[in-house]
Amino acid sequence: MSKNFDVVVIGGGPAGYIAAIRAAQLGMAVACIDQWKNAKGGPALGGTCTNVGCIPSKALLQSSEHYEAAGHHFAEHGIQIGSLGLDLKKMLARKDAVVKQNNDGIAYLFKKNKVAFFHGRGSFVGKADGGYEVAVSEPANETLTAKRVVVATGSVARALPGVPFDEKLVLSNDGALSIADVPKRLGVIGSGVIGLEMGSVWRRLGAEVTVLEALPTFLGAADQDVAKEALKVFTKQGLKIHLGATVGAIAVDKGGVSVAWKDANGAEQKLDCDRLVVSIGRIPNTAGLSGEAVGLKLDERGFIAVDNDCRTNLPNVWAVGDVVRGPMLAHKGEEEGVAVAERIAGQHCHVNFNTIPWVIYTSPEIAWVGPTEQQLKAAGRAYKAGSFPFMANGRARALGDTTGFVKFLADATNDEILGVHIIGPFASELIAEAVVAMEFRASSEDIGRICHAHPSLSEVTKEAALAVDKRALNF
Ligand code: NAI
Repeated sequence: MSKNFDVVVIGGGPAGYIAAIRAAQLGMAVACIDQWKNAKGGPALGGTCTNVGCIPSKALLQSSEHYEAAGHHFAEHGIQIGSLGLDLKKMLARKDAVVKQNNDGIAYLFKKNKVAFFHGRGSFVGKADGGYEVAVSEPANETLTAKRVVVATGSVARALPGVPFDEKLVLSNDGALSIADVPKRLGVIGSGVIGLEMGSVWRRLGAEVTVLEALPTFLGAADQDVAKEALKVFTKQGLKIHLGATVGAIAVDKGGVSVAWKDANGAEQKLDCDRLVVSIGRIPNTAGLSGEAVGLKLDERGFIAVDNDCRTNLPNVWAVGDVVRGPMLAHKGEEEGVAVAERIAGQHCHVNFNTIPWVIYTSPEIAWVGPTEQQLKAAGRAYKAGSFPFMANGRARALGDTTGFVKFLADATNDEILGVHIIGPFASELIAEAVVAMEFRASSEDIGRICHAHPSLSEVTKEAALAVDKRALNF
């Protein structure tokens, strides 16, 4: 006999589990189906973000940053340590423990909010009683019915044609987070977010990292002042980054991976490495969903087709997160999850795509919100720009972390903040002020006139805002 709910959410990543919790808060009977299995075959709620993405990568970035600081930067603080050792097994176990805390946290939230959880793959069976029938299989075996379904099945790593991930030698984000021994030579294809974050982790732990990027420009999505600074810093740190690289044949054998590639001048090159991370983007995950059973429409790129409000072509079927258009960011999925739950409850809500922040957790961190200077120019928008370096900030000097700057872009006429771009310490935290300012449609003068604590990195944000009108105080 099927179990009946007001809402069934398929997928327990950030978009899905947040949609389920919000719908339950609004008084609906909610089920969430998620198939992720931990090493013991049990459930591991939280999707890619929690299990093989945001959370474990941040754990390893933190551990590897400590290791690098202990090896290279403690001495300048007058701290002497004896010989430095790396217990990679322990580092990876800590990362796994952080993941488990997050898995358990979501399971706890489901209990607290009375969301019924089903462990297994969710797939559409057909239409039923003015709603939908959804099967749960492996390991659970159940049939659920609900008037509304929210699909939040996420994304999977895109493989190079003919080079499947074996997660031993050819690694996606998943395998790149669990390499048992530090590889001597690590190859990375794609200098996007995952390539840079994973490349940074393994370089800090001692690998020689070579990154091959197809595009001639580095970090094309970022403001090019930020991208230029990042390329300079990452190269100085030891990442070998080749832009305009055309990857050819890839040979994988027990000894490692050999990549034939052409450099930007068309010269044949070869990259021999012990492991290869392929981070060339992700694709929507609709495999096994059986959307065809109910006529769920995909777009030409394989994403579930949705309108601005995450409605699919089917009545009462919604889709959120990586499986629909827009940036593949956990927090974008969460916003959509909340918005859909509230729309189902008859409320009115809005996701502002213009104020979704981007963060790359390298060192220095990179974060931005709103259009880049290049995008404003291309759109013909009249703007003013102001930048301020961390080098001129007391807190950054005390931290010993003075790389980078904050850059403001504001409307030339009314001074409204259009975009904020940061490369520097704690950029991931500093960007929040810019997001709030843009949501409230603040001007750069507003930020320049707000009292910021001294000494703090946030003073760099204030000074960059003042710099828009050429009135920075400390530079
Ligand atoms: P990405 O889209 O960030 O970068 C992929 C890079 O690979 C691009 O620079 C692209 O030009 C390059 N590329 C594509 N095909 C290539 C080829 N054949 N040869 C050489 N280079 C090639 O994708 P990535 O890093 O795989 O990340 C996937 C998604 O995960 C992103 O959309 C990102 O938003 C998300 N993510 C976000 C994180 C964060 O917010 N900090 C962390 C990790 C991932």
